[in-house]
Amino acid sequence: MVTKIEAAVRFIRGLYTDNPSVGIVLGSGLGSFTAEMTIEKEIPYGDIPHFPVSTVEGHSGKLIFGVLGGKKVIAMAGRFHFYEGYSAEEVVFPIRVMKFLGIETLLLSNAAGGMNTNFEVGDLMVINDHISLFTVNPLIGENSDALGPRFPDMSEPYSKQLIAAAKSIAKANHLDLKEGVYCGVTGPTFETRAEYKFLHIIGSDAVGMSTVQEVIAAVHMGMTVFAISVITDLGIREEENKITHAEVLEAAGKAEPKLTLLFKELIAQM
Ligand code: HPA
Repeated sequence: MVTKIEAAVRFIRGLYTDNPSVGIVLGSGLGSFTAEMTIEKEIPYGDIPHFPVSTVEGHSGKLIFGVLGGKKVIAMAGRFHFYEGYSAEEVVFPIRVMKFLGIETLLLSNAAGGMNTNFEVGDLMVINDHISLFTVNPLIGENSDALGPRFPDMSEPYSKQLIAAAKSIAKANHLDLKEGVYCGVTGPTFETRAEYKFLHIIGSDAVGMSTVQEVIAAVHMGMTVFAISVITDLGIREEENKITHAEVLEAAGKAEPKLTLLFKELIAQM
């Protein structure tokens, strides 16, 4: 594993030599976020040794190096999902590469279905904890001590400090920011009515098909993590409740300016 990470890092270093400190993972329909960046270099995933290649609509599939909020950042435009058929290890490979490139802080975004009855489509929810439900843990297998410990603590996967900073940024910008627990599932089916209800009862406020595996890998390596869900649909409703990928992408696109503002300000304060 470490050999593969190092090969990817060597390749990237041959094309880009600066030392970004913040990594950003963009969720479904959130790719145009990068228009806010001063782009210095783009590397398609397909060019990087051992990188999986993204297949889902709405994911362009490249690493973008540049400046945002006055800091050097790496943005992953497009991520790898377990439901695409990648192994859990493949899903987190880019996160490990970012860490080996010197990234200490990871900001993630995702599209998620809301279950908290106070949520509306288009809301942003700061993730303060997660429940991993049927997602395969990316640390299963032989542990590489070069990455992190065999049994990592998960009592605070999401940085309390960054959550507090995000709340004050939201307040200063009159931006409504929700907070809650994200439940990670495999997908690719959206949940049944009974499943949305169940996930809510066990303590989740939003549900999605990404993020949890990446966060586990990041915490394993000692990274500081902040993540946010864009609520793109509501799981618990009385009326007809069909959910489509197109609807998810549309809602994500509409909420994107708020997310961009938040990430930008958060990075500027680091
Ligand atoms: N469920 C699971 N994943 C999702 C949803 C949802 O309702 N919306 C966006 N991603």
